[in-house]
Amino acid sequence: MLEIHVVRKDNRHLYEGYFDPYFRLRHDIYVKQRKWMDLDRPDGREIDKFDTEDAVYLFCIDDSRLIGAMRALPTLQPTLMSDIFPYLNIRGPVRRPDVYELSRIFVIPERRGEHAGPRVEMLLLTAIMEYGISVGLTGFTIVLESWWLPRFERYGWKAHPLGLPQMIDGMSVLAVLVDCDDVTWKSLCGQIGLTSPTLTWLGLTGINRAALPDIPPLVPPTAQPAQ
Ligand code: COA
Repeated sequence: MLEIHVVRKDNRHLYEGYFDPYFRLRHDIYVKQRKWMDLDRPDGREIDKFDTEDAVYLFCIDDSRLIGAMRALPTLQPTLMSDIFPYLNIRGPVRRPDVYELSRIFVIPERRGEHAGPRVEMLLLTAIMEYGISVGLTGFTIVLESWWLPRFERYGWKAHPLGLPQMIDGMSVLAVLVDCDDVTWKSLCGQIGLTSPTLTWLGLTGINRAALPDIPPLVPPTAQPAQ
């Protein structure tokens, strides 16, 4: 069964067995497939200086197998935007307790673009909104390739550019701030047919979070009789 797990420093010990496959998958996907050679490491594990104990991960796990993931970093600490790509944000770095930076979203190749059931990628985007509103975040910063923008538009993610797109290694890249709100979360749930929160918070009973309500399924508007 497919589940999306919140993994933070408080419960990381429960997921130790997943971290080696996780970093190896990142190497396969970003270095071998996407050819982001700056991330190459001889041990075949893509880990960077932002994988600190304060990083939060969403692990998408299907029958004990990691099939997708995403990372969220507190913007009060160094982020990709503040340390690697500061020139993308013309207003200077965002450093706020209620804003996290998203990075390293991926789905393993054989589970991309699925048509039977919700796409894993959409589940991850829905799950990170659920995480954000549960713990009181109001936004996510992201350094992304511009092909994400029409996709965000389609999904109802409200992305505000923080600067102009720049060409970096042949890619058009920009910095955005995305609203993290209830309306976006509910709309995404409606699009993929979720009627209740989806995250698994194993071992996280001690953290301060709001329990989110179930979402009534979208009822299509009734057809008006012809006059
Ligand atoms: N460049 C341009 N467009 C891309 C793209 C890329 N590198 N990767 C995906 N897309 C767009 C395309 O429009 C693609 O449509 P296509 O099928 O006509 O090519 C569409 O997204 C669907 O992508 P797909 O990969 O089939 O599946 P998905 O929506 O299930 O998953 C990702 C999207 C990004 C999660 C998945 O492609 C992935 O894991 N990629 C590798 C990791 C990555 O690059 N992450 C983003 C940066 S952190």
